[in-house]
Amino acid sequence: TTSGASAAAVEKGNYRHFMQKEIFEQPTVVAQTLRSYVHQANNTVALPQIDFDLSAIKRVTIVACGTSYYAGMVAKYWFEHFARVPVDIDVASEFRYRDPVLEEGGLALFISQSGETADTLAALRHCKAAGQTIGVVVNVPTSSMAREADLLLPTHAGPEIGVASTKAFTCQLAVLAALAAHLAVKKGRMKRTEEQEVVKHLLEAPAALNAALDHDEDIAGMAHLIAPARDVLYLGRGPDYPLALEGALKLKEVSYIHAEGYASGEMKHGPIALIDEAVPVIVLAPSGPLFEKTVSNMQEVRARGGKIVLISDAEGLLEAGEGCMATIQMPKVHPLIAPLVYAVPVQLLAYHTACVKGTDVDQPRNLAKSVTVE
Ligand code: AGP
Repeated sequence: TTSGASAAAVEKGNYRHFMQKEIFEQPTVVAQTLRSYVHQANNTVALPQIDFDLSAIKRVTIVACGTSYYAGMVAKYWFEHFARVPVDIDVASEFRYRDPVLEEGGLALFISQSGETADTLAALRHCKAAGQTIGVVVNVPTSSMAREADLLLPTHAGPEIGVASTKAFTCQLAVLAALAAHLAVKKGRMKRTEEQEVVKHLLEAPAALNAALDHDEDIAGMAHLIAPARDVLYLGRGPDYPLALEGALKLKEVSYIHAEGYASGEMKHGPIALIDEAVPVIVLAPSGPLFEKTVSNMQEVRARGGKIVLISDAEGLLEAGEGCMATIQMPKVHPLIAPLVYAVPVQLLAYHTACVKGTDVDQPRNLAKSVTVE
């Protein structure tokens, strides 16, 4: 069946693991996902038929788990920046227990690769009972969440077999960026020309993802620097802060090394005490308005003997690459698509580190692909 394609039905091809294959599928599946969400003729967003008034939406509540939650964190920046609609976001297992205030005019948005995660599904039903309009970004269009949605937004990532989510994440971001732009237009916050600008940059993502994948060799080469670590820190700012969280989760999941994502500005409020030469620090910092601040956070780390892996573009590496343990060069990309593109190096770093450690990359210990118990 198309929805629950079993691992056997989906081939690894000439890849060692499903996770590796799925990382390399991202340019293709992000492109095919985008094709379903843009009118290529005039570079505007095309959403499935919506039978409620999107312009009446006054607040968005995003609920998800794990990697899908990090996609939601990025989407929060976009919804608030473009559409000026306030966004609340929660991990699903906490959402219902904070007794959320759910007023009329609310869009409750659930992000899930499987569409079956028990905590997220329970939160969806809680919001439906509270009269919220239900939006779902899901990779399995026949899943429970898909069936209960008012607005179904499928990602077209194809079956994701590796327990660690990769291509579903970047496809979720592509869909969420399109939704944010569409909502902004409906709210009268985005002109047609700005929408076309957003779509133009989104359509640059597949090529940028390919350029990021070109660094697979040198990332494999630095995995031996990470594999012996007992603790790894990931730092990011703004829309790249959720990528720091995602990078840490990837490493934890597949290599079993403890890792933590942090807002780089928060380091001086405690975590800098963790830093010594045994703690690699992965810094995600595209050049741009937040770069200088992230560089100064980096210098604080280096001053304490921290070993830094800087992930930036040529401009950023020229300015701050000196003295780092390693650097990974990303293509220069528009800030909108940086979260999609910077997912690739952290996915590859986790993947290659796991290979060095010899763990079961596609089926890590204690994990399930879809957590269908609360
Ligand atoms: C991500 O790599 C993990 N496998 C896990 O955190 C996952 O994102 C989470 O369980 C949510 O799953 P879903 O997207 O299918 O709801």
